[in-house]
Amino acid sequence: MSIQDKIQHADWQEEKHVPVIDCPDELEKDQFTCVTVTLGKAVAHPNTTEHHIRWIGVYFEPDGDKFVHDLGSFEFNAHGESTKGANEGPVYTHHEASFSFKTSSAGTLTAVAYCNIHGLWESSKRIELK
Ligand code: FE2
Repeated sequence: MSIQDKIQHADWQEEKHVPVIDCPDELEKDQFTCVTVTLGKAVAHPNTTEHHIRWIGVYFEPDGDKFVHDLGSFEFNAHGESTKGANEGPVYTHHEASFSFKTSSAGTLTAVAYCNIHGLWESSKRIELK
């Protein structure tokens, strides 16, 4: 068994766990561009103490590169926890991350999201340069 056997894929428009990568399809070479990664855009994912998205990791694989590059890891650590009980707290983080990156090469963005109940989910987006 490999961990990759446990990473699930699906159409984000039908499956609430699939990360959605929002950025232009074509980027300006070596110019910082904002990327937003979230999930549940079509079918909302719960955000409760018992059931939530714990983190999203984002990677970039330049064409022809042997390795992927880690662009960032984003943790979502507040889900209504409280001394009063589950979901009684006043604070929640939403499973959405925005950041900027630049590249000198076309390639593939990949996002991996972790649901505390339903495991690992992945999606990718092709990036071209203008
Ligand atoms: Fe889930």
